[in-house]
Amino acid sequence: MARGREQPRYFGDVGEDHLHMSNRGLRAKYDVTGRFYDFLDYYWERQYRVWRPKLLADMSGRILEAGVGTGRNLRHYPPGVEVVAIDLSPRMLAVARRRARNAACDVSFALDDATLMRTVPDASVDWVVSTFMCCVMPDELQPRALEQMARVIRPGGRLRLLEIVYSKSARIRRRQERFAAFVEKVYGARFDRETRRHVAENPDLEITGTRFVKDDTYLVIDGRRR
Ligand SMILES: C[S@@+](CC[C@H](N)C(=O)[O-])C[C@H]1O[C@@H](n2cnc3c(N)ncnc32)[C@H](O)[C@@H]1O
Repeated sequence: MARGREQPRYFGDVGEDHLHMSNRGLRAKYDVTGRFYDFLDYYWERQYRVWRPKLLADMSGRILEAGVGTGRNLRHYPPGVEVVAIDLSPRMLAVARRRARNAACDVSFALDDATLMRTVPDASVDWVVSTFMCCVMPDELQPRALEQMARVIRPGGRLRLLEIVYSKSARIRRRQERFAAFVEKVYGARFDRETRRHVAENPDLEITGTRFVKDDTYLVIDGRRR
């Protein structure tokens, strides 16, 4: 395993069979969006970068980050952890690989679909973390991704998801609705995904807590593998 400051390991493009058929469009979208992603996300990232270190601070051992994107979390992992980062977009992974040079921990990458996780062995990680991936993932695929997460987490290991959801406040929801079409077009993300329900329905996962990091819109779901 390469150190984060050295060249991170990359398993390369393994072709289309790493991808669930329904995700081909999403991969194509992120291979385009990936060129501008950090620029497009700049406004939101100003607040996310305050939350990211707090979200990751208590993690230890071997961590799978699903939907790593351009690697915005990587420099916030505590030293001493070992991160395996997957994404379905080669373009997003290419940016994440560069960003991993600033990580204080070991990082390796694989081009992989979170609904298949062909590169991740059973019970091989202490944590699965994912930020803003499930709001991008269609509801019908989320049970598959959660099945894979449950498979790769060791018994007793933990899960943490950060997602954006619609607010119950009419005022905030109106503001979110103004962005909704843009967010879906550019990122494939929606605010009405039912990730919490999908986690609750997975027989191998148990929700240990939920909290909001801002208003009632940025939702953290904490869980563990039974
Ligand atoms: C909105 S971006 C979030 C990126 C990053 N996690 C962050 O916090 O900035 C969503 C990322 O999830 C990836 N993604 C979506 N569905 C995926 C799947 N089924 N498997 C792996 N990656 C996926 C996309 O390619 C994209 O890079």
